[in-house]
Amino acid sequence: MQLGILQACGSALLVWGALGASVSQPDNRPFELTIYRHPRSLGCSYATLRQTQIYRGILDDGHTESLVTHSGDERLRFISHDLEGLRLRARSLCHIPDANAGDQKEKVLAVTAGDSHAHLTLPDTLRNLAALEYPPLQVEPLITSGSSENRVDLVFFADGYVREEKAKFLKDAMRLATDISGNQTFDTVKPLLNFWAAFTPSNESGIGVGGKPKDTPFGLYRDGTELRGVYYDKPDAARAACYSLGDRCDYPILMGNDPLYGGLGGEFTVITPSLDNGALVLRHELGHSVIDVGEEYDGGYAYFGVNAAHNLSIPWAHWLSNSSEIKSGADIRVERSAMPMQKYAWTMLNTSVPWSVSFNSSGTYPRHLVRFSLSGLPDEDDLSVVLDGERLPWTPKPGIGVDRWHYDIHRSISMTEGEHRLSFTLENGDKEGLAQLCSAEILEFGDETEFNGSPGHYSIFPTFSEQNETSYRPTNEDCLMRQVTTPNFCRVCVEGLWLSLLRRVDLIDGIRSRCDWELDMGFSDEDPPIGKWKRTLDLDLIPLAQFRAERRAPHESYTVTWAKDGQILERFTNKTQLKVDDQDGPGVYSVSVQFTTSEVRVDRDGLLESERSHTVSGTCSGGQ
Ligand SMILES: *[C@@H]1O[C@H](CO)[C@@H](O)[C@H](O)[C@H]1NC(C)=O
Ligand SMILES: *[C@@H]1O[C@H](CO)[C@@H](O)[C@H](O)[C@H]1NC(C)=O
Ligand SMILES: *[C@@H]1O[C@H](CO)[C@@H](O)[C@H](O)[C@H]1NC(C)=O
Ligand SMILES: *[C@@H]1O[C@H](CO)[C@@H](O)[C@H](O)[C@H]1NC(C)=O
Ligand SMILES: *[C@@H]1O[C@H](CO)[C@@H](O)[C@H](O)[C@H]1NC(C)=O
Ligand SMILES: *[C@@H]1O[C@H](CO)[C@@H](O)[C@H](O)[C@H]1NC(C)=O
Ligand SMILES: *[C@@H]1O[C@H](CO)[C@@H](O)[C@H](O)[C@H]1NC(C)=O
Ligand SMILES: *[C@@H]1O[C@H](CO)[C@@H](O)[C@H](O)[C@H]1NC(C)=O
Repeated sequence: MQLGILQACGSALLVWGALGASVSQPDNRPFELTIYRHPRSLGCSYATLRQTQIYRGILDDGHTESLVTHSGDERLRFISHDLEGLRLRARSLCHIPDANAGDQKEKVLAVTAGDSHAHLTLPDTLRNLAALEYPPLQVEPLITSGSSENRVDLVFFADGYVREEKAKFLKDAMRLATDISGNQTFDTVKPLLNFWAAFTPSNESGIGVGGKPKDTPFGLYRDGTELRGVYYDKPDAARAACYSLGDRCDYPILMGNDPLYGGLGGEFTVITPSLDNGALVLRHELGHSVIDVGEEYDGGYAYFGVNAAHNLSIPWAHWLSNSSEIKSGADIRVERSAMPMQKYAWTMLNTSVPWSVSFNSSGTYPRHLVRFSLSGLPDEDDLSVVLDGERLPWTPKPGIGVDRWHYDIHRSISMTEGEHRLSFTLENGDKEGLAQLCSAEILEFGDETEFNGSPGHYSIFPTFSEQNETSYRPTNEDCLMRQVTTPNFCRVCVEGLWLSLLRRVDLIDGIRSRCDWELDMGFSDEDPPIGKWKRTLDLDLIPLAQFRAERRAPHESYTVTWAKDGQILERFTNKTQLKVDDQDGPGVYSVSVQFTTSEVRVDRDGLLESERSHTVSGTCSGGQ
């Protein structure tokens, strides 16, 4: 029996989730080439090459993603192990004539990959993001779970916070990070994420209005004074700031110091720390960028990803509440509803003329919903909402003040066939210039046998675009991609979230090998003490399942299988530590890990599995 273990070989013990711990990552970091291109002229402005963290399930010709920046350029990103392939890709996409064209001035984009020095030669008209100026950044951890090279990292950047407001910035950022990962939204995937705050003092406090930015690092502003989009004037500074953080900045969040609703999605997630809307905007925009899904609400134009279908072969068949529907094939029921009216009004209300809209109903639906969102209207008496001459009761969210909020009025009566009129009238002149109708919509539903909108019911629900084209979504109102006031994704999006994150994060953080000197019981008083060397391998896993720090997750498990020189070591199954006698140490160890969670039902690319091998070449006592 062992009495104690002496640490040998000078290796420090790693603590779960310890930051900056050097774990052995295999050298499989791919290259990432980022290009900004004008969509019509196809002229490229930037090209940047670096090594990036793993991308699992990558195809031979690499991974491609593209997005449209706020100015209308395309940002193209290629991730591949093949540098020559990336070079050819860049040249063809930017219409650069290849090879020894002679008179072209070329420059070298270089990266250092391990011991080797990789580079890409491109025309020097292309600017390198790495060479752009960016503001000074004071980076502090908010909520972290591991080394950035094997985590997905979200960074809050400060805009409109002066030097004295640094503490406010950190508090705002921490509040939002906690809100979206504490007990909801990103809660279950938190061990795959890091949240950081990067502070830059602004020269002026707050964000600009009337299209005019203030003197701040990223130049955030509103178009007018109304609560709507928040835009940025200095995208290059934001790009370069994020780029300078390397693996620590996967998703940049620009936070403008303003207490009210506003934001923007896309290349940068722009938010405000509004108490009622900050987290709401943040989690919805992160849903778009992290899971890579479009909208679920009506009146949009982009419906794509795991939560959208344009015909009845739906990608969420394995989540349907009534699975016999899919199996029987023929009669797949689409929940019966229609959208007779939908407007993004974004209009300031006045007392002289109401905002109103006419629409036709088919008269065939027994129920309907009047849905709208408002800002600048803290009191019920200040606004009347009238449908066909009948004033509808609405109650402002308590404490909402002048911030934006969303309201639903469900009515279990049928609208008659023919024309109807909905109007919004400002009753209080003092609220002119503040009171805004943001959106208004009418939805009609079949009866309970035709339309099951209960929470937790996974089915096929029609969604209507701005052109009134029908696509389908998995739940009625369970997902924050549709109902922005709910704090959670539906299960289909949560599965998509796991799979997206696990492309960039390996379940195995690393394997550490060490030698332990074990004292023999009964001989510990001897001088020198009698004992023997043991070889120990420690497997560092992402802290999920039984290794979660905060909470037991009953529907998760890890299965761990060890082998040495191809022979399975049964006695170490499900163990994260393997210990053998010193002389048995040398050899090639491999470990395979299978993670399961009730939140993922289909894993086509094997992202919930991982394998790693480790070679022990000598004994602890020194013999080779
Ligand atoms: C999460 O915690 C917040 C703050 O404590 C609370 O308001 C919210 O209702 C909680 N959400 C869930 C899903 O428990
Ligand atoms: C603040 O003003 C100084 C002096 O004009 C300028 O150098 C600096 O870049 C400004 N800082 C920011 C964050 O805009
Ligand atoms: C249904 O839509 C998917 C994806 O949008 C498409 O790949 C598939 O071909 C479509 N199927 C039919 C039968 O139209
Ligand atoms: C499930 O779908 C089948 C096939 O469409 C249908 O016959 C059955 O009534 C459905 N069950 C429930 C509980 O809705
Ligand atoms: C959308 O199309 C449906 C079916 O044709 C129709 O009943 C509805 O009124 C249309 N809605 C709008 C907003 O045009
Ligand atoms: C009052 O609001 C209505 C409806 O939004 C609009 O058409 C009208 O131009 C506004 N009038 C003034 C004086 O702002
Ligand atoms: C409603 O339908 C009638 C009859 O088809 C048509 O004349 C009218 O323009 C429609 N109203 C609206 C607001 O679409
Ligand atoms: C290992 O863990 C998995 C998941 O909890 C379990 O199904 C399996 O039975 C375990 N194997 C052994 C040998 O304990």
